[in-house]
Amino acid sequence: MTIEIKALTRQTMPILGEHFKRHRAESGTNGVHFMPFAPDDTNGPTGATVDRSFWPIDKPGWQRWFCIHELATGNIVGHVDLKTDPLRAGLHWCHLGIGIESAYRGRGLGGKLMDCAIAFAKSTHTIDFIELRVFSNNLPARALYKKKGFVEIGTLKDRFRLQGQSIDDTIMVLDVRG
Ligand SMILES: CC(C)(COP(=O)(O)OP(=O)(O)OC[C@H]1O[C@@H](n2cnc3c(N)ncnc32)[C@H](O)[C@@H]1OP(=O)(O)O)[C@@H](O)C(=O)NCCC(=O)NCCS
Repeated sequence: MTIEIKALTRQTMPILGEHFKRHRAESGTNGVHFMPFAPDDTNGPTGATVDRSFWPIDKPGWQRWFCIHELATGNIVGHVDLKTDPLRAGLHWCHLGIGIESAYRGRGLGGKLMDCAIAFAKSTHTIDFIELRVFSNNLPARALYKKKGFVEIGTLKDRFRLQGQSIDDTIMVLDVRG
């Protein structure tokens, strides 16, 4: 398997959309959710916003996306995104999201995507903190975040109710300056 991690471009937006469809369909299939949407929910993750993905980092609302490309198929099979605060006063914070299609997990790609996002944040010299939320029962993701230095700062109990399951949401933060 030859893969490459590349920043999102306007040209690769459509294949990111295809990845999102496959990835969302996997959430909850074995009773373990990683997105706050039931399989029959007509809502879904918002994905990349065309313009915001290329806004300068001093403009509130910017996003950055890094994607795993599988060269043999031309597909995107994983992503990590950073989205900043919509308020100018919160520009030193951003929010991280990550997802890899099931066939590509457990091969070190999640770690590589996290390294890429953290390196980008450090390179800006303006982002001081990365925040994320993770379902408390998502142990692989929590282990990955801890390994990369994120600290758990609290849990929102019963944050989501999906298909009869009550799901707690854990908040984790990385101090990029540390
Ligand atoms: C969480 C996710 C991104 C991890 O990606 P991955 O490519 O499988 O992870 P890696 O192979 O790079 O593993 C990196 C570390 O993650 C942790 N990890 C990964 N899979 C794990 C598992 N099944 N059980 C426990 N820890 C695990 C380990 O700490 C691992 O480090 P190690 O190999 O030194 O033990 C991936 O499982 C995924 O996309 N899951 C579905 C979507 C999701 O949960 N997104 C996060 C929502 S908040």
